Amino acid sequence: MGCVRLSLVLFIAIVISAMTVFGNDARVNKSTSRLFWSTGKEDGDLVRKADSEESVGLSENDELDGGFSSLDGMLQWAIGHSDPAKLKEIAQNVQRLSHDELKKRQIEIQELMEKLKMPSDAELMKIAINDLNNSSTSREDRLRALEELLLLVEPIDNANDFGKLGGLAAVVKQLDHVDPDVRKLAAWVLGKANQNNPTVQQQVVGNRGFLVLELGTLGKLIKMVKSDFAEEAIKALYAVSAIIRNNFSAQETFYAEGGDLMLKDILSNSAVDVRLRRRCVFLVGDLAESQLENKRKATLPFFSDHVFLKAVIDLTSSDDLDLQEKALIAIKSLLQLKSTGASVFKELCGLDEALVNMRRQLQQVMEDESRRDYAEDVEILRQEVELMFDNKLDKGAQVPT
Ligand SMILES: *[C@@H]1O[C@H](CO)[C@@H](O)[C@H](O)[C@H]1NC(C)=O
Ligand SMILES: *[C@@H]1O[C@H](CO)[C@@H](O)[C@H](O)[C@H]1NC(C)=O
Ligand SMILES: *[C@@H]1O[C@H](CO)[C@@H](O)[C@H](O)[C@H]1NC(C)=O
Ligand SMILES: *[C@@H]1O[C@H](CO)[C@@H](O)[C@H](O)[C@H]1NC(C)=O
Repeated sequence: MGCVRLSLVLFIAIVISAMTVFGNDARVNKSTSRLFWSTGKEDGDLVRKADSEESVGLSENDELDGGFSSLDGMLQWAIGHSDPAKLKEIAQNVQRLSHDELKKRQIEIQELMEKLKMPSDAELMKIAINDLNNSSTSREDRLRALEELLLLVEPIDNANDFGKLGGLAAVVKQLDHVDPDVRKLAAWVLGKANQNNPTVQQQVVGNRGFLVLELGTLGKLIKMVKSDFAEEAIKALYAVSAIIRNNFSAQETFYAEGGDLMLKDILSNSAVDVRLRRRCVFLVGDLAESQLENKRKATLPFFSDHVFLKAVIDLTSSDDLDLQEKALIAIKSLLQLKSTGASVFKELCGLDEALVNMRRQLQQVMEDESRRDYAEDVEILRQEVELMFDNKLDKGAQVPT
């Protein structure tokens, strides 16, 4: 049975890759090829997922650094798991097919797949987890297993199954791997599985999954954020953000593991990769937002630390509009925390001056046609922050201290 499925996957993979070579109109795009991995999922689901990633500011589109196409991953998986003689035979058969025949074949395959059922995502996850768990697995196979999981854990149901199959523990173990690419991918998979998924978050930080936290997952990831290898740092921060998002108990662990110091260090260091700084300041806004919602608890001293606040405010003078915008969003949330007085922002951090300078800077950027719209949006946000700050100053003046 397994064998039948395997050669089917292999055949499909080869047909698709042949089509990408031959036809223009038959070009397989990412969402189409993804369908073969995740049978029964609507394209719309995938698109929506991509959108939601954007909306939480964790977009990775700019960071698919030499990533992989799912098609390629599938092909490699199939090749890796099959008999070379069979492989050659199928490849020869496919080469003999004309364009139209190929197209017809593809439709047939789609019908066939529905009937036969491809290996389920759970089965594919089991294979990948098994490979990760096997110390004899080669570097290439290990990377491939992680790349497969990256796709497989994206649908929310799969992510939920992933923990039950022992996947979280297996991937967390990879964070200790000597190879930085393995560590990077492992962090990425963890981030993907946790993103917008309270069930998985609970498996990582909650009681049932306590084992995982005992392994010091968050602490490990926080250390990885300080890696000299920017890609590893970025993916580690992505995982940290996804794990602690909207979850107070996870955030407490984050602070206990020195996550606040890590943020402070990165935000104060202009030599750090701008992508990492963007994500850090985005996380600051997210955490401040959580503090606002979490009225039961006293605000952490971290949010009143003027060295940290100044580091955030200084980002408004960056020449990276995206970073400036994210800094403003964070400042907007920080200003709403009652525990930090307006005078700290004014006297110790120079927020008033920073906002004035920023207006000047944005006006200059607006002269550049290509960046005008974006700069205008950021200016609107800047005005909002300015107004909020003025209100806070007024209120502070009314209350004798
Ligand atoms: C890619 O897939 C989407 C969704 O099915 C479709 O709308 C789009 O036309 C496809 N693009 C190409 C180049 O085939
Ligand atoms: C581990 O991998 C090796 C080499 O690929 C293989 O021979 C062995 O059967 C695997 N062990 C398990 C338990 O899957
Ligand atoms: C991975 O291997 C360990 C032993 O090394 C075992 O306890 C664990 O159950 C394995 N996990 C999976 C998912 O196979
Ligand atoms: C966060 O994780 C804890 C521990 O698993 C869980 O009890 C809680 O419901 C989660 N959600 C929030 C919002 O804290």
